Amino acid sequence: MSTNAVEAHGLVKRYGPTTALAGIDLEVPTGTVMAVLGPNGAGKTTAVRILTTLTEPDEGRATVAGFDVATQGTEVRRRIGLAAQDATVDPLLTGRENLVMLGELHQLRRPAAAARAVELLDAFSLADDAGRVVSGYSGGMRRRLDLAATLVAHPEVLFLDEPTTGLDPRARSELWTVIDTLVGTGTTVMLTTQYLEEAERLADDIILVDHGRVIARGDAQKLKREVGGDQVQVVVVEAHQLADAARIVAGVTGTEPALDAGTRAVTSPIDGGVETLIEVAKGLAAARIAVEDLSLRQPTLDEVFMTLTGTDTTDEVA
Ligand SMILES: Nc1ncnc2c1ncn2[C@@H]1O[C@H](COP(=O)(O)OP(=O)(O)O)[C@@H](O)[C@H]1O
Ligand SMILES: [Mg+2]
Repeated sequence: MSTNAVEAHGLVKRYGPTTALAGIDLEVPTGTVMAVLGPNGAGKTTAVRILTTLTEPDEGRATVAGFDVATQGTEVRRRIGLAAQDATVDPLLTGRENLVMLGELHQLRRPAAAARAVELLDAFSLADDAGRVVSGYSGGMRRRLDLAATLVAHPEVLFLDEPTTGLDPRARSELWTVIDTLVGTGTTVMLTTQYLEEAERLADDIILVDHGRVIARGDAQKLKREVGGDQVQVVVVEAHQLADAARIVAGVTGTEPALDAGTRAVTSPIDGGVETLIEVAKGLAAARIAVEDLSLRQPTLDEVFMTLTGTDTTDEVA
């Protein structure tokens, strides 16, 4: 079966002189997770706002759960959940009150709304804190409540706009587990993120967006391969041995390595994996070069972007 829960063709959105979206095409097959990966200002939130009927595109068309976002907004809204980048829960209410209120907004009677709240509070490990006001929650708890809130009405398609931005690593990993569980229930998820690691961990498919355009698509491995795959990195103890280390690395990898005098690091793409790393280690030892660190690393999101777009993610102004 090849039904798509989300389909967008040629989405364009301009804000005055700014082109937030310059023609985006995307498809999210039903029951899968799609990550829209991109730096600040790439157009991620704009795409989510269009797909959730909060704003209209200037050009292009999109369907969500089979309904046109421009002409069948009510049908779309009935079938989606949105965890926006800024929290939507009321900080002055308790976790339970927030969920019950949302249930009632979705036309549930109070006992049904209360039952759904209990179910979700359990599922998101918030049962113990259900009676506390949300303003006292940690960042991670608040995000979990945000997620729970989007699920009150059993959405078919869930939009998560940067669900873990600003969380510490532990809260982030807890949230990832929660999102995994969600996906296990068959919900289609489209999430946005700035973290390649997050996209890789959660998504079946990734689209890489920059300046309102899709610049690459595929799974994380494909994106990484496009920027040259694994790299070996050597950090030498003595700065004056950097050039010697570079010669040894080049001899093994057959590629001219990059040198960074500031960090005393030599970096070179490799395709031999651990075998190559061992060759490098032997060469360094034979030349009596003291090594502070020797590692096999994958490109970072910054490097993916620099390679694919020629710009650094840190150039972007939020
Ligand atoms: N309401 C708005 N008014 C003016 N410019 C906007 C508005 N919303 C977004 N933009 C601009 O559109 C571009 C894309 O923004 P956004 O979709 O929020 O990116 P992201 O979510 O990837 O950070 C940015 O340059 C941003 O400044
Ligand atoms: Mg955003």
